[in-house]
Amino acid sequence: MSIHIGANPGDIAETVLMPGDPYRAKWAAETFLQDVVCINEVRGMLGFTGTWNGHRVTIQGSGMGMPSLSIYVNELIKDYDAKTLIRIGSCGAMQEHVGIRDVILATTSSTLSTPSIGMFKELNFAPTADFDLLHKAYHAAESKPSPVHVGGIYSADVFYDERPDLNEQMTRHGILAVEMECAELYTLAARYKRRALAVLTVSDHLITHEALPSEDREKSFGDMVEIALEAAFA
Ligand code: ADE
Repeated sequence: MSIHIGANPGDIAETVLMPGDPYRAKWAAETFLQDVVCINEVRGMLGFTGTWNGHRVTIQGSGMGMPSLSIYVNELIKDYDAKTLIRIGSCGAMQEHVGIRDVILATTSSTLSTPSIGMFKELNFAPTADFDLLHKAYHAAESKPSPVHVGGIYSADVFYDERPDLNEQMTRHGILAVEMECAELYTLAARYKRRALAVLTVSDHLITHEALPSEDREKSFGDMVEIALEAAFA
């Protein structure tokens, strides 16, 4: 057991998919995996291990925001030796050409800050996806109905951000979408030499103000889970 994960050594697979929402972890495990076992209930941050096409996979909630994700990713890597970590989450679109339900593969993520920022002093570290995973995810996404976009995103610290000028600058500089976890995932993966990728589904739009109705979410998020699984084991 680690401090925040109640699993025994060996209960967690080398490949871990990480939604922010623990109930989405439960839904994804029950929908896409076989022989599913719940391996974590500490603080309600549910985790499940099962198999997909014969491969062992864990789906573990990360919570919302980089400080929460950092706790789970640190423990998954250091205490359970996770090797491939794929965030599966929602995001808010920041470009007109990106639609609700579209899939985004994040090459990199800009930030104002991350839990790791203190390590870098004056350096602006550029957190980057694992290219092999990204490449495989792109090919997996080509056969799905959801349009796919590949590019930079923004990992915010504040969901209810009251600085519209900052969003405008990001839109102007081609940032595809905003979420709250990816930059720290990529930074930790770089530090510990693991593979990481964020596969995201657009749930809301910062320009058009559209939002995915909650009853549509699960259906729309299925493509993202399949892309993550196909990329991990291609
Ligand atoms: N996740 C999904 N939509 C988001 C948004 N608009 N801002 C931050 N994180 C998000």
